[in-house]
Amino acid sequence: MAAQTEVGLLNKQQAIVELERLAKAMAQADIAYHRNDAPEISDAEYDALKKRNLEIETLFPTLKRTDSPSDKVGAPVSSGFSKVKHAVAMMSLGNAFTDDDVIEFDTRIRKFLGVADTQVLEYTAEPKIDGLSLSLRYEEGKLVQAATRGDGEVGENVTPNALTLRDIPATITGAPDVFEVRGEVYMSHADFAALNENQLAIDAKPFANPRNAAAGSLRQLDSEITKSRPLRFFAYALGEVSEHFSDTQAGIIQRLSSLGFSTNPLTQRCAAPSELMEHYSKIEQDRATLGYDIDGVVYKVNDLALQARLGFRTNTPRWAIAHKFPAELAQTIVEDIEIQVGRTGALSPVARLKPVTVGGVVVSNATLHNEDYIAGRDSFGKTIREGRDIRIGDWVTVYRAGDVIPKIKDVDVGRREDNSQPYVFPSICPECGSDAIREEGEAVARCTGGLICPAQAVEKLKHFVSKAAFDIDGLGAKQIEAFYLDGWVTAPADIFTLNERIGSGNIQQLKNFEGWGEKSAQKLFDAISTKQQISLNRLIFALGIRHVGESTAMTLARHYSSWSAFNDAMENARDHSGSDWETLNAIDGVGGVMAATLVDYFHEAKARAALLNLVRHLIITDVEAPTVEGSMVAGKIVVFTGTLEKVTRVEAKAKAESMGAKVSGSVSAKTDIVVAGPGAGSKRKKAEELGVKVLSEDEWLELIG
Ligand code: IVH
Repeated sequence: MAAQTEVGLLNKQQAIVELERLAKAMAQADIAYHRNDAPEISDAEYDALKKRNLEIETLFPTLKRTDSPSDKVGAPVSSGFSKVKHAVAMMSLGNAFTDDDVIEFDTRIRKFLGVADTQVLEYTAEPKIDGLSLSLRYEEGKLVQAATRGDGEVGENVTPNALTLRDIPATITGAPDVFEVRGEVYMSHADFAALNENQLAIDAKPFANPRNAAAGSLRQLDSEITKSRPLRFFAYALGEVSEHFSDTQAGIIQRLSSLGFSTNPLTQRCAAPSELMEHYSKIEQDRATLGYDIDGVVYKVNDLALQARLGFRTNTPRWAIAHKFPAELAQTIVEDIEIQVGRTGALSPVARLKPVTVGGVVVSNATLHNEDYIAGRDSFGKTIREGRDIRIGDWVTVYRAGDVIPKIKDVDVGRREDNSQPYVFPSICPECGSDAIREEGEAVARCTGGLICPAQAVEKLKHFVSKAAFDIDGLGAKQIEAFYLDGWVTAPADIFTLNERIGSGNIQQLKNFEGWGEKSAQKLFDAISTKQQISLNRLIFALGIRHVGESTAMTLARHYSSWSAFNDAMENARDHSGSDWETLNAIDGVGGVMAATLVDYFHEAKARAALLNLVRHLIITDVEAPTVEGSMVAGKIVVFTGTLEKVTRVEAKAKAESMGAKVSGSVSAKTDIVVAGPGAGSKRKKAEELGVKVLSEDEWLELIG
């Protein structure tokens, strides 16, 4: 080691250089020691570096680096919890906010199943606990794994922590060999208050609400801490089970209770939507006396065989819904109205509010949707808020519903200043100055600037790296904004050349950015390179094409399977005619507007160039229609026509898709099977002409077992 200047003699500039050198040396030593198991310097040398670093920081506190080695603990940083793939995905629930939503839920289910209004359809209603969900896996009666929900597919293994809860038995008798119980971990109001009092006493930060306290307490690396926190658990559902357990949801709850689990005493069977709503009102009335937080009532179809027929949408079951309680309200002032420009160029007005607390959260802005909403009209031209418009300076009532962005409920025109003026919606884009045009029949105005509009470009990039798209660790909205401003990333392809341009030798450039050190930079490049392999559905979603959401992207990916097939089809369909165009339009869930947007996107010169530039860097993996063991129809293109008598059309389609078939609306040479019920006409005829297999409904049902 070269002779060192004594710390006390360093000037500010030298101190900066020295802190950087030390951080680098220690990061390198950390990698050698922890990652490669091959130490490059002795422990004593390491300690000396650490001591010198700390001395300089003490002398120049303002120079302390954001990645300072003093902030790192000596032991290998725990990677946290191990990951657990859920045997059965942990879904979320759709929401109902009004009585009409509840009636619609019942109607939708009846339609799907083909159950007449005169027939009874039973539900269960139970409180929606405001905690965090947990899946407990028992094997031969022994708790072998407890996992948090995570993203629904993969959660965190918190088994030792779960075992500290009184409500979670370590062993059970009389359950199937493989038995997964799901429920909610929560903290009571009394325990929450006591915990926060204690937090204050020991100078620790109090928790914002019982749910945060429960989550923070369960996700402790040291299970002794979890043990000291009074967490509780309500069981309400099953995951994987190796044997038949019950015929009904009510039966599940009953048997769970007799196995020793805590179940919610307010769970009740209801025979009609009116009874659901009655029970809802009762629970709402009791809400304040329960002693724990709930945020609504969950309704589930009681019959499990019907649940199985109803199945799931992408993330939510068709057979359940959460009826949320109305949100808390608060009054505040609109200080300003700002316009945000989204990735598709939509101009979205946002109210900047004088900060106010609503339901324990400070709210400082609210969505204003669009020009009509501000003016007091809905998107059909009907008056809302009795026609009261929203102006800068107005007193408004705001509310939060669930975790969504706050909304404005009403305006107090009585408190309006005399000189107040109606808000004038801009006709040019505030970001790039291009015309903002509102097309006939459209609710939103859009910037016509396309990629020259920085807001659109940045929002497109943010979407590109978002969770359901490329999901690159360490590259979130904040980093994208910074990289865009610096000109490093202005198009998706730039992400994959970052390393080449500013990596390795030039890492200093990235380190000049606040918050980046060598380790985090390397981590970013690694994360980017792993995401060069991407599945077709994610890629399609990532492109951010208007109307193409996650589930449409999946439908398209399953239909075309490979990038080359998809790309070829989009090119061939460019004139909005021909067989590829017809096939695209026939895909269930793809309408004419969406088909046109898609094809035009692939044809538009700039978008196309950017796309080709991007795919050069990628390995795009094929998406197979879900292979279902023993399914005779996986990958087959199926058309339903005529009247179906055993199941409804919606159910037939959902079932076919769940077995890996692709359901199409029109017959072509590519069609594999036409299922023709009574009254089938031209489609049946066309199938016969083309030599496509035609099945009756019964034959079809037999085929899919
Ligand atoms: S049933 C397939 N029942 O709400 C759906 N969920 O918004 C299984 N939750 O992630 C969920 N109380 O954490 C169900 N009584 C209840 C619930 C409940 C709270 C939570 C659960 C879920 C979330 C969905």
